[in-house]
Amino acid sequence: MENHRSAPDQAPATRAPGRRTYLMCRPAYYAVEYAINPWMDTTAPVDAARACSQWEALAATYTDLGHEVLYIEPEPGLPDMVYAANGAFVVDGIAYGARFRHPERRPEADSHEKWYRAAGRAHVKPEHTNEGEGDFTYLPGPGLILAGWGFRTDARAHAEAADVFGRQVVSLRLTDPRYYHLDTALAPLDDHNIAYYPEAFAPGSRRLLQRLFPDAILAGAEDAAAFGLNFVSDGARVVVNAEARGMAAKLSAAGYEPVPVDLSELKKGGGSVKCCTAELRP
Ligand code: ARG
Repeated sequence: MENHRSAPDQAPATRAPGRRTYLMCRPAYYAVEYAINPWMDTTAPVDAARACSQWEALAATYTDLGHEVLYIEPEPGLPDMVYAANGAFVVDGIAYGARFRHPERRPEADSHEKWYRAAGRAHVKPEHTNEGEGDFTYLPGPGLILAGWGFRTDARAHAEAADVFGRQVVSLRLTDPRYYHLDTALAPLDDHNIAYYPEAFAPGSRRLLQRLFPDAILAGAEDAAAFGLNFVSDGARVVVNAEARGMAAKLSAAGYEPVPVDLSELKKGGGSVKCCTAELRP
C-alpha cells in the first residue's frame, strides 16, 4: 500500500471539500433511560427540547456547508435512535446493516433496513453483531475500511464487511470502555488521513495505525473526553463538538477548518457529531 503523507507543512493552502450525503434522525424520543456505556447516567436530567435544538443546528450546519441531509423517522421507545450512525455502514451505495449488541437498541436495525429498502437503496442484512458506522469507517484514497471491535462489534463482522464490499478491512481493537465505538476514538480527515486517540487502542492496533498513518493527527486524553474525535469532515471543513477546543486547534494547525457545534445534551447518551450522522457514500 502507498504511504499517504500529508504533514502540516505539506498541506495545501486550501483543502478541497466534497459534497456529502448524510442521514440523520431527530431526537424526538431521546432520553437516557438505560446505561450501556460509561457516559450514560440515568439519574442525570436530559433537556429534550435543548437536545432537539442542538440537533437542528447540526443539521443546519451541514446544509449551510452545501451537503445533502436525509432523514429517518424517529420511533417511540428507541431513545438512542438519534445516533443514526449506528444503523448501517454505507460504501459504494451498499448499506451493510447493523445488528446491535444490546437488546435495547436492536429494533433500530429494522427501522434503518426499512428506510434503505423504501428509498430503493441496496441493503445487506448482517449475520454478525455490528453497530454500523459506529465501528466502521472508510478511506477512499487507499480504499480501506477501518473497523473497531472489543466492545460492540463482533470481529467476525469485519470479515463479513470485507465480503459484502469486496474491500480490505483493517481490524482495530478498542480497549477503553469510554471509547466503545471506533468513531469515538478515530475519524477520517480526508480521503487519506485520519485523527485518532492512540490510548483507546490495544498496543498492536496502535502499531498498525502508526504504520498506516504516520502523519495522522494524534488526539490526547482531553480531546477524546470532549468527543473531539467524534467529528465529521468533508475533507476541508470539520464539524466537531464545541467543547473540543484543543482538538479544533490541532485541526486548524493541520490546515482544516473546524466548525464547532454544541451537542452537550447528546453527549449525555455517549455520542456527539459523528454518532448523529450516517454518511451515505455513493
Ligand atoms: N447511547 C448510545 C449507545 O451506547 C450511543 C451511541 C453513540 N453512537 C456512536 N456512533 N458512537 O449505543
